[in-house]
Amino acid sequence: MIGIFDSGIGGMTVARAVEQLLPDYSIVYFGDIARTPYGSKSAATITDYSLRNTEFLLQKGAEIIIIACNTASSVATEALRREFQVPIIEVITPAAHKAVATSKTGRIGVIGTRATIRSGVYEQTICSQRPDFHVFSEACPLLVPLVEEGWTNKQETKMILRRYLHPLKDKQIDTLVLGCTHYPLLTKLIQTRVGKRVTLIDSSVETAHYVRDLLTEQPHLVAKKDHGIATHHYYVSDLTDSAQTVARKIFARPLELILT
Ligand code: DGL
Repeated sequence: MIGIFDSGIGGMTVARAVEQLLPDYSIVYFGDIARTPYGSKSAATITDYSLRNTEFLLQKGAEIIIIACNTASSVATEALRREFQVPIIEVITPAAHKAVATSKTGRIGVIGTRATIRSGVYEQTICSQRPDFHVFSEACPLLVPLVEEGWTNKQETKMILRRYLHPLKDKQIDTLVLGCTHYPLLTKLIQTRVGKRVTLIDSSVETAHYVRDLLTEQPHLVAKKDHGIATHHYYVSDLTDSAQTVARKIFARPLELILT
C-alpha cells in the first residue's frame, strides 16, 4: 500500500496522478485539514506534524510514504528518513529535475508557500545540477487557503495571483515550478497570467512518474492489490463541506473523505 500525506487536499493532486499511473496499487491518504496551512508554520512544527502523519499511514499499512507536500518535503524529509525504515519520497527532487530538463534559457521561476521558499530547497536542488541556472522564487501564502476553500476560479484569486506573479514577469523565465501540490488546481489561471511561452512544472505529476519508475525497478517495495482489488482510502483530520467538494472535483468521481 502506498501512503500519501499533505497538509490538506492539495496532495490529492499527487494521489490522483498515482491512481492513474499505478492502478494496481492500494492508496491510503491523509490530509491534515485541521492544521492546514503548514506553509506559514515553523520548520519544527511542520516536522512534528509530518512525523505524526507518517505514523498514522504506517498504522494503516503503508509500505512507502509520499510526502505530497512541498512544504513538508522541504523541511521534514530528513527527520522522516531518520525516524522510519520505509522509503520516504519527497516532491521537490522530481520537480526540480524536470525543470532543469525543460528550461532552455536557464531562467526558472518557483512559486510555493513561505516555508518552501524560505528553505531555498529548489534553488539548491536546481543549482546543484546546473550552477549556471538562475532561479527566481516567490512565496504565495494566500493560495493554499483559497484552494482549500474551492476558490479556484474567482476574481479575487485572479487578483491575488496577478500580484504574486508580477515580480516574475520581467525575469524572463521560460519555466515555472508549481512548488506546492495545491497549485495544480490553479493551473489555468497561472498559465493565463504567465503566458503560453512559460512551461509549468507540476510537482504532483513529476512525483507520480518518479514513484512509478521506482516501483518498476524495485517491485518488492510495495505489494500490489490487497485481496485482488486496489483500495483507495482518503482520511482527513477535519471534515468540511468545502474539502469534500474540492476532493470530488479533483477526482471527478463521488469520493467520501473519512474523518480520523
Ligand atoms: N500542498 C502543500 C505544499 O505542497 C501546502 C502546504 C500548506 O499547507 O501551506 O506545500
